[in-house]
Amino acid sequence: MRLVHTVSELKEVLAEVRTERSIGFVPTMGALHKGHLSLIERCQQDGNFTVVSIFVNPLQFSSEADYEGYPRTLGVDARLLTDASVDVLFAPSAAEVFPKEQSFPEIDPGVVGERFEGEFRPGHFAGMLKVVSRLLDIVVPDRAYFGEKDAQQVALVTQMVDAQVHSGRREPMSVVVCPTIRSEQGLALSSRNLRLSGAELESATELYGALVAGSKAGKQRAEIVEAAKAALSPAIRLEYLELVDASSFEIVERIPSGGARLIIAAWVGDVRLIDNLLIGGSK
Ligand code: PAJ
Repeated sequence: MRLVHTVSELKEVLAEVRTERSIGFVPTMGALHKGHLSLIERCQQDGNFTVVSIFVNPLQFSSEADYEGYPRTLGVDARLLTDASVDVLFAPSAAEVFPKEQSFPEIDPGVVGERFEGEFRPGHFAGMLKVVSRLLDIVVPDRAYFGEKDAQQVALVTQMVDAQVHSGRREPMSVVVCPTIRSEQGLALSSRNLRLSGAELESATELYGALVAGSKAGKQRAEIVEAAKAALSPAIRLEYLELVDASSFEIVERIPSGGARLIIAAWVGDVRLIDNLLIGGSK
């Protein structure tokens, strides 16, 4: 594995590769776990030259404390990626990604970005889209891989890439969505889980329990949401739990034929967790 810190070196490496191989890109913020590794595996299975980025993007955190407290484990991550036979790890500084002398366009997340995560984390999606667009401009991948765990992120990235390709601003590329990887107890793996105590880790499994309970409760939003909420103990401080359309994130009153997404965000101790499950429909 080649460890690259600068945009110029990465572009040089990829210019050579590009003539012979498709390029697959897995953007991450590090503190890697099996969820990230599943994206990488899929990227490799698709036959790509695989580039993984690790960049803790300051623009997508709502508070300095959350940004500072985000786990940074570059040494361990680099070892994991070497073992996984990744081709390139791109680990740039903030000055490398957003040099002061250049300006980068703000990207409006639109109405989908105002709902749920957008409401509870103001500025998060605009910051996330800005860095994803910038990273895609640097790497110019044929395919980029994202986790269904962050379903609203996936919807917004897909929307942005489609619009950019449509307007001719970006070369055609695919956004590949990969399933959520969970612990044996069902907890969606997340870098933030590192900050949970033993007891909190146990409580956190209730989020998935609630989604499953909701998925078994029928077809109507009211009964689904009620059953899901009933599965949560007071250790879980809920922000939202809703049944939504899988791409617009508008609330649906009944599961449509294509299915709907049951989404949850909650605090366990001082850690904020999100999860979701596609329910009903053919999938
Ligand atoms: P990060 O939270 O590090 O996640 C990187 C990628 O891994 C995302 O696409 C995320 O959805 C996926 N992922 C996380 N947990 C997963 C799990 N349990 N199963 C499957 N996939 C999982 O998401 C970000 O970073 C950032 O917002 C980023 C896109 C890198 C932009 O800064």
